[in-house]
Amino acid sequence: MDSLENGTFEATMARSDMLEREIQVNPHNFRVLTGDRPTGRLHIGHLFGSLQNRARLSSLGVNTFIVIADYQVLTDRDSFESISENTLQLVIDYIASGIDPDDERNVIFPHSHVPELNQLLLPFLTLVTNAELNRNPTVKEEILASGLKRINAGMYIYPVHQAADILFCKANVVPVGKDQLPHLELTRIIARRFNEKFAANKKVFPEPQPLLSKAPLILGLDGSQKMSKSRGNAIMLCASEDETAGLIKKAKTDSERKITYDPINRPEVSNLVLLLSLCTGRAPEILADEIGDAGSGKLKSTLIESLNEYLRPLRAKRKELEGDLEFIRTVLRRGISNARNVATQTLDEVRDVMNMKI
Ligand code: TRP
Repeated sequence: MDSLENGTFEATMARSDMLEREIQVNPHNFRVLTGDRPTGRLHIGHLFGSLQNRARLSSLGVNTFIVIADYQVLTDRDSFESISENTLQLVIDYIASGIDPDDERNVIFPHSHVPELNQLLLPFLTLVTNAELNRNPTVKEEILASGLKRINAGMYIYPVHQAADILFCKANVVPVGKDQLPHLELTRIIARRFNEKFAANKKVFPEPQPLLSKAPLILGLDGSQKMSKSRGNAIMLCASEDETAGLIKKAKTDSERKITYDPINRPEVSNLVLLLSLCTGRAPEILADEIGDAGSGKLKSTLIESLNEYLRPLRAKRKELEGDLEFIRTVLRRGISNARNVATQTLDEVRDVMNMKI
């Protein structure tokens, strides 16, 4: 990851901090694009890691595009039965976590419905080499993790498709976790090469900047790996309060009675303290100290209560939205229409500079 063309991870982080300050001062100069694959329901790791940050940026007044990357689902698995169900559920989670569907600066759309966006993939593919696609570290990891013997070509080219997701709307900010940095670097390269080759360096496309997530890494309830639905260690946003309690009660802790906040040496206990801290807005060290000798039983019962209370408004909103899927579809139809307007303009401009006008 340190071999990013753009310098070291530390340098990327410093630039990201500067970008954050610029956004605070002038939110209207920025357009954010973020997105998710519709592979399943979202969990509290997503909420604290990315959803809240998106809602925050959007409420600052930043124009926010959210792509539901349904084509990406086909890259590392054979199943496609739940794509449409998962898409609706994603929209529900976005709205429940604070994205205002009535604010027209928020555009939520599945990319399969925006043909003009997808068409950008074709010229973009001619701007990268096979070797560049083959050495993408995130793709390599995903190939290993998929356990598949036959890797389809979509797996190798999806980062180029992702460049189309970002560049079709000329987004200049992409909030990302570390794993997405290679994709964003490729997007910047594609923008640069496109401008150089076809537009005599005129800025048809901006080189979007990464806004690195500040959220601490949330581990699963096993305390040993990232929270993730497929690893069975997650608390889903849609879980009931009883389910949430059951999961926390079973969370792994250690044999030391006194609660301390020590993420390196006591990852399981510290992860629970961290969650408590995120729900209460209080420092983890102080919370750990307060529980102290009352032990992990007390830590768990406190967390169960705080987390359920914290999630109660979000879950109530979720329930309400689940009862009105027609509204969710309306939000998507509006998003698709806005995204297509923007994509059509960009594609016209792209055809124009590529000498493909008739
Ligand atoms: N690859 C992202 C993920 O797996 C989803 C995604 C698709 C995305 N297109 C994007 C993220 C564009 C940011 C920008 O989560």
